Amino acid sequence: MALPAEGDALFPAPPSLARGAHVPSLAAYRERYRRSLEEPQEFWGDIAKEFYWRTQPSGSFLKYNFDVTKGPIFIEWMKGATTNICYNLLDRNVNEKKLGDKIAFYWEGNEPGDSTVISYSELLHQVCQFANVLRAQGVKKGDRVSIYMPMIVELVVAMLACARIGALHSIVFAGFSAESLCERILDSNCSLLITADAFYRGDKLINLKQIADEALQKCRDKDAPLRTCIVVKHLGREALVSGGRCGKSPPLKRLCQDVPTPWDAGVDRWWHELVKDASKECEPEWCDAEDELFVLYTSGSTGKPKGVVHTVGGYMIFTAATFKYVFDHHPEDVYWCTADIGWITGHSYLTYGPLANGATSVLFEGLPIYPDVSRMWSIVDKYQVTKFYTAPTAIRLLMKFGDEPVKKHSRKSLKVLGTVGEPINPEAWLWYYRVVGEERCPIVDTFWQTETGGHVLTPLPAATPMKPGSATFPFFGVVPAILDECGEELEGEAEGYLVFKQPWPGIMRTVYGNHERFETTYFKKFPGYYVTGDGCKRDKDGYYWITGRIDDMLNVSGHLLSTAEVESALVGHASVAEAAVVSHPHPVKGECLYCFVTLRDGHEFTKALRDELRNQVREKIGPIATPDYIQHAPGLPKTRSGKIMRRILRQIAKNDRELGDTSTVADPAVISQLFQQRCEAAE
Ligand code: PRX
Repeated sequence: MALPAEGDALFPAPPSLARGAHVPSLAAYRERYRRSLEEPQEFWGDIAKEFYWRTQPSGSFLKYNFDVTKGPIFIEWMKGATTNICYNLLDRNVNEKKLGDKIAFYWEGNEPGDSTVISYSELLHQVCQFANVLRAQGVKKGDRVSIYMPMIVELVVAMLACARIGALHSIVFAGFSAESLCERILDSNCSLLITADAFYRGDKLINLKQIADEALQKCRDKDAPLRTCIVVKHLGREALVSGGRCGKSPPLKRLCQDVPTPWDAGVDRWWHELVKDASKECEPEWCDAEDELFVLYTSGSTGKPKGVVHTVGGYMIFTAATFKYVFDHHPEDVYWCTADIGWITGHSYLTYGPLANGATSVLFEGLPIYPDVSRMWSIVDKYQVTKFYTAPTAIRLLMKFGDEPVKKHSRKSLKVLGTVGEPINPEAWLWYYRVVGEERCPIVDTFWQTETGGHVLTPLPAATPMKPGSATFPFFGVVPAILDECGEELEGEAEGYLVFKQPWPGIMRTVYGNHERFETTYFKKFPGYYVTGDGCKRDKDGYYWITGRIDDMLNVSGHLLSTAEVESALVGHASVAEAAVVSHPHPVKGECLYCFVTLRDGHEFTKALRDELRNQVREKIGPIATPDYIQHAPGLPKTRSGKIMRRILRQIAKNDRELGDTSTVADPAVISQLFQQRCEAAE
């Protein structure tokens, strides 16, 4: 097929995919979109009917206020209806849909050859057993449970067990530091922690229990002791199974490795010992559609992470519907989302959305380039993956190694490719399209946020002509708008603030324990709208293009960080008086951290100090926040009122002397000094 020229070109959805597609054409998309806006109750009601509801909604299907000037912000979908999301994901699929023997997950370990599978009925049994364990440990509806685990089946079991008994899970990505874990445990007052002994990330051993213990000690220091810590024996797992793979196959790193696991008998319990005698039956807790399902922390521009809260009913129908339509899911598909469950993508599109659709997924513990750079494609072939969802940063990383590692694997099974997490540059898009998908797989560039719960701007694979780098059009029920600085809605071709005009079922409901922060962050700037914090432009064909964050946030490898949280980690060091952090372009990560630090009197800027500062940030936040550049700044460019001028720092970081207006800088001499002392390379 001759491809259109690059740039603003349209890549049509492949006609072969239209046969049997849920949304086979642009006209079909438009018709359904129109219905979702004109008849929301019927539209979402039809989707809700696919699920089991113990009782139907008692009042209105949707009630909300998006306008802070008219009263408190609230959103309620199907309030009064009762259900259980875990029941819908597992019992309904096993008992009603007869999918008990269907594979829910192919688990693929860090080491090739280390793998296992779990069926829907086995998953149901494990979830029931663990839900009984949680109840026996005193966990009740509404309690918060912190989960800090590698990508293993027990992570899914733990989250669904929480959902089954109406407890809120708060999953903390296993790459976060002890400090970050402690902060999150305290913020939502979790009563129990679930973790694992250890795991390998590539060839690096991560002793997770040790980090979890440091976090628990920090909680104790703050007078908030946690009652129980349940530990999965993951790395040492095979030691538990007599006649397991240990003796039969060549030794794999994970197998038989009993790492020393620090233990406090008053707090710690082994997962396998607790579940041993637990019943495989567990009556679900029937929850209101508006009961809280989980908390997930995301960076906030003040530096303190926000506990984003999602609720049972709306999140269930939204993740189920987006998964079905955006990946055009069919029962025979094998779907693979490479995101970690510690992020929202792993919640919505590795766990809830796929399981709600009775899908078979790959759950991968490892890294894209371990043990070699063709690992991803060997997994695609191994499981005959049909739908593949990853992040632009992974695509850019793999692109660096050329086409050969991709082409040596067949990839014939692939039908749809997806991306998420940050804007995808057209070069990476085209490489993904041409090399990985061989021009036969559409790319769904899905724009969404932890806060939105699911896709809000996205192509549909058999319907939407694509433009490389554009998230195209809104999903059903979603009404975007672009506002100018004064809050005026812009029509036609325009660029400005991306906002949404009305709620969809999966939108967050509050910030845990701080509803005021929810209102201020998302609804105060432009009353009447949900403000995403992203810039956006709409082209002449009505396509939406995300231009990136317009607040003090940056997106490193698809992970949102706030400059304030990195600054506060830096000034926590005894030698630092002041720090200013800006985002800097990076060829693989998209953006990276460029830090300017002013030292206290008597301290010297040395390589050793730079390493200490880098470690300080890793320890406070986690390895994802490791600064690429740390520059000594004897002074910082400030306005006369003392506000740091980050706009100028960004130019200094790039060595770009186009500074714009500098008339408000209190001491212009610091600018030339900073240019002179720029870090030429990340050391
Ligand atoms: O800036 C946008 C970017 O990621 C932010 C949301 O980050 P987070 O809450 O961590 O969730 C990431 C996974 C959903 C957004 O505000 N972003 C996400 N997807 C895209 C994107 N930017 C451009 N294009 C996307 N497809």
